[in-house]
Amino acid sequence: MSAIRVLPELLISQIAAGEVVERPASVLKELLENSLDAGATEIQVTLAAGGVQRVQVDDDGAGIAHADLGLAFARHATSKIGSLEDLEAVATMGFRGEALASIAAVARVELVSRTPDAAHAWSLAAEGGAPLAPRPAARAPGTTVAVADLYFNTPARRKFLRTEATEFGHCDEVFRRVALARPDLAFSLKHNARVSAQLAPQSLSARAATLLGAEFAAASVPLDARAGPLRLHGLAGTPQAARNRADAQYFFVNGRYVRDRLLMHAVREAYRDTLHGERQPAFVLFLELEARGVDVNVHPAKTEVRFREARGMHQFVFHALQRALAPSAADAPVSYASVSAPGPAIQAALAMHEPAADFRPAAPAPLPAAQKAPPLGYALAQLHGVYVLAQNEAGLVLVDMHAAHERILMEKMKLGLDAGGIERQRLLVPAVFRAEALDVAAAEENRDALDQLGLELSVAGPNELAVRAAPALLAGGDVAALARSLLAELREFGAAQVLAARQNELLATLACHAAVRAHRQLSLPEMNALLREMEETERSGSCNHGRPTWYQLTLGELDKLFLRGR
Ligand SMILES: Nc1ncnc2c1ncn2[C@@H]1O[C@H](COP(=O)(O)OP(=O)(O)OP(=O)(O)O)[C@@H](O)[C@H]1O
Ligand SMILES: [Mg+2]
Repeated sequence: MSAIRVLPELLISQIAAGEVVERPASVLKELLENSLDAGATEIQVTLAAGGVQRVQVDDDGAGIAHADLGLAFARHATSKIGSLEDLEAVATMGFRGEALASIAAVARVELVSRTPDAAHAWSLAAEGGAPLAPRPAARAPGTTVAVADLYFNTPARRKFLRTEATEFGHCDEVFRRVALARPDLAFSLKHNARVSAQLAPQSLSARAATLLGAEFAAASVPLDARAGPLRLHGLAGTPQAARNRADAQYFFVNGRYVRDRLLMHAVREAYRDTLHGERQPAFVLFLELEARGVDVNVHPAKTEVRFREARGMHQFVFHALQRALAPSAADAPVSYASVSAPGPAIQAALAMHEPAADFRPAAPAPLPAAQKAPPLGYALAQLHGVYVLAQNEAGLVLVDMHAAHERILMEKMKLGLDAGGIERQRLLVPAVFRAEALDVAAAEENRDALDQLGLELSVAGPNELAVRAAPALLAGGDVAALARSLLAELREFGAAQVLAARQNELLATLACHAAVRAHRQLSLPEMNALLREMEETERSGSCNHGRPTWYQLTLGELDKLFLRGR
């Protein structure tokens, strides 16, 4: 072996470019993100030969001051962060000061920029590394970055590029992601001098209709759910919008397109009851949270993120989406925020002129006079497959059936686990499911932990696992899906961590799988049984994710709704 030596600067940049600049589409992504960070309102993309020959982005953003131009191509030079604190709370797409330097190391780059107060623009060219001196140029305020001849100086990499059509396809996908993320901005896309998209500022649903097709727009429901600092909004495709390929799945975290395992899992779970077989859901979803709650600095292309509260995020996305997909819930949304003071939402929910299809009036059970009436009263009916309505002494009780059941199961399993292990039941017919090699390994390595959780798995084939025993409380449910999510959990966090520090999250996963799903029709005796169990269960007032499980509407409040003075 030869002696250790320090690599030349250009080679360092070329190596770094390998991570950031994989193909023309990665160049386009970096340039578009810079334009977004510059506050542009109109962005024009021009491509030639799939982007290999040319990727050019024009924007009307803030521009770069003449004095800063020299640093634009320098590695680790950025105007976006200055400290670790900034990094942890980063709100811009860029933060590494790496993109332009990497691109300039493997292509010919020309940058023309003008700030609004400058008399004219300046142009700066760089060819395989260090830039030449800036020269005056003509341009309206904003920035143009033109990247030509990608990999002209690194022929080995150039060989990895695919056909022009394929490279253009990747660029088009990047363009689509950014344009969906920002329907409030104008975009255009030209390839080989042909206009392929021209988008004026518009609503999200209009933008989605243009980019994903009118069928998607017609067969999707808007959603907007909040919990504290979390918000999930966007468009969720109904089963009618599902596709054979996962090619219309857009998930953005704080405006950034991500493909995150945890989030995709939450989405799949939410769609599990409504989608059959291998159909792939279509969606455009935006998750917003405080910048400090998410780390975006985990992947060179920034397409993966880590959440500080991974499990909580999973549950929030799962529940918000599942609820949005329940047809009734979309028709008559009842937000908890408005429940605390009965407002228009409640009035709307109660103002049913005709009984809806699944509102089944039943003879109210008479309150037995002899014994004291139970606190949550007796069930009257089920509303839209989501809520149980009950009558108690004070008035009307509204119960979120799934959330309440989840809480009850969770407490039962907690007791079981504290007593040495969750009670389990052997399955007459083992549930066999496809598993990745890593899942099979996780099942073997974590036999004891799974055992305590009431699950017995055995290897049924190189890519198959079989559930032989499952927690007794869950035996009727989809045990294979449960096994899959437990294995995912064990793979991600390890057995010790899962059983100790993450016990509550784990039990919540178990309970969520076993709890009655929205739209299960319950009989009155079943509903009453649920109410009685709620009364017995500790903490049944809120579900496992902290949402309330029931709400009391008193006669007094009802009277007020109907302006009935007393
Ligand atoms: N279109 C643009 N408009 C205004 N300023 C720009 C534009 N493109 C780049 N810049 C300036 O050049 C700097 C370097 O850009 P570059 O993309 O290399 O790094 P970054 O965006 O800060 O971080 P990252 O490497 O994560 O993208 C930016 O910090 C910004 O100040
Ligand atoms: Mg950047």
